[in-house]
Amino acid sequence: MVKTMLVTGADRGVGLALTAQWLQDGSRVFAGQYADSAGLQELQKEYGEQLSVFPLDVASETSVKQAFEWVESRTDRLDVLINNAAILGEIGNTIHDELQYEEMLSVFNVNALGSLRMSQTFTPLLLQSDSKLIANISSEAGSIADCWRDAWYAYCMSKAAVNMQSKLIHNGLKPQGGRVLVIHPGWVQTHMQGKLDEAAELTPKQSAAGITKVIHSAIGREASAMECEYVDYEGRKLKW
Ligand SMILES: NC(=O)c1ccc[n+]([C@@H]2O[C@H](COP(=O)([O-])OP(=O)(O)OC[C@H]3O[C@@H](n4cnc5c(N)ncnc54)[C@H](OP(=O)(O)O)[C@@H]3O)[C@@H](O)[C@H]2O)c1
Repeated sequence: MVKTMLVTGADRGVGLALTAQWLQDGSRVFAGQYADSAGLQELQKEYGEQLSVFPLDVASETSVKQAFEWVESRTDRLDVLINNAAILGEIGNTIHDELQYEEMLSVFNVNALGSLRMSQTFTPLLLQSDSKLIANISSEAGSIADCWRDAWYAYCMSKAAVNMQSKLIHNGLKPQGGRVLVIHPGWVQTHMQGKLDEAAELTPKQSAAGITKVIHSAIGREASAMECEYVDYEGRKLKW
């Protein structure tokens, strides 16, 4: 049984649903909160000390370091780190339009560097656990092999960087028994596009349930035999 996990961007959407799912399964959850979250407040009332909520801006080195000190003072190990926090940025402009480079840097800082900051900072706690697993919530949009869009520059490029980063970290942690999974959560009804995406196929709860199964199935396998895998919420392989 996974005892302790940490999830970023837990305010709402997939992150909040993952928090609820892992609490329900009996794990101790550290939930990184970026803004006010009624959802996390409700879970706190229900689960009490099983849930530890802390402020976290993955775009800030200072915030990530402070979060590490706070978490480290409450647990001596972390079985699973789920890097879920991300932003979308502008998605309409093509190579023929004006591209917003400053905003792209912000998206890259949150999505790609944010998960790297978290993984590197929390590695000491992860390596104290049996599972030693990082799950990076990426996207099908990060696949270079299957790229079909002609826009979404910031998001797609940042998720492709998350994919590469995941392989690098996996290679770096493998000798110590660590592993990294890259997971596409499906098309989920969240507010990532600024309003609820009602057309999406999955509820956050359905996506979180699938992601959780994929992670548990990986934990059940021998770490030394595992490659860094890029899969969806049902465990189906995606092309890099
Ligand atoms: N929804 C989909 O169809 C879909 C598809 C493929 C991949 N994904 C991926 O799934 C993950 C979850 O997305 P979602 O759909 O659940 O979107 P979401 O509801 O917008 O959730 C993203 C979370 O990250 C938080 N966040 C934003 N900036 C942050 C920062 N600097 N530091 C820490 N947290 C920050 C957000 O906080 P605020 O709410 O306060 O801004 C929010 O709680 C993301 O990695 C996304 O790329 C989603």
